[in-house]
Amino acid sequence: MNQTATTTLYERLGRRDGITRITADLMKNHLANPLVNARYMNSENLEQIERRVVEFFCAGTGGPESYSGKDMVATHKGMNINEQEFMTVIDDAMDALKKNNIDDATCNEVLAVLWSMRREVLRV
Ligand code: HEM
Repeated sequence: MNQTATTTLYERLGRRDGITRITADLMKNHLANPLVNARYMNSENLEQIERRVVEFFCAGTGGPESYSGKDMVATHKGMNINEQEFMTVIDDAMDALKKNNIDDATCNEVLAVLWSMRREVLRV
C-alpha cells in the first residue's frame, strides 16, 4: 500500500515551542542586520510584536493558535518597504530556521510561503 505520511508545517517547525525559539532568533537576526534594524528599533513594543509573529506563524502553519495582530497590509502600510529589505528579512528567517536545525525541504516551504506574501508587504 502506498502510504504518504503527512505532517503539518506547524509540526515540522516544532509546534509552538519550536516556532517561539525560531522567532526569537529571527528577531535577534533583524536587530543585528544593518539593512533593517532601524525599522524594528523604532517599534514601541518589540516583545508584543514578537508574540504576534509567533501567533502568526503558529496559526498560518496549521497550529491551533489564533492570530490577534493586524493583517499584513495594515501592519506594513506606509512603511514603504523595498525589495532589498524584503529579501534580507527572508534571509534572516532562513538563518533562524537553519540555526534551529529545520530540514531543507521545510525551509524551502517556509521560503515559498514568505515569498507569496510579498504583495501584502512590499511598498504597500
Ligand atoms: C513575508 C514577510 C513578512 C511577514 C510575514 C511579516 C509579519 C509581521 C507580523 C505578523 C508583524 C506583527 C503585526 C502586529 O503586531 O500586529 C509584523 C510587524 C512588523 N514588520 Fe513585518 N513581516 C514581513 C516582512 C517585513 C519586512 C520586509 C519588514 C521591513 C524591514 C517588516 C517590518 C515590520 C515592522 C517594523 C513591524 C512592527 C510594526 C509595529 O511597530 O507595529 N516586515 N510583521
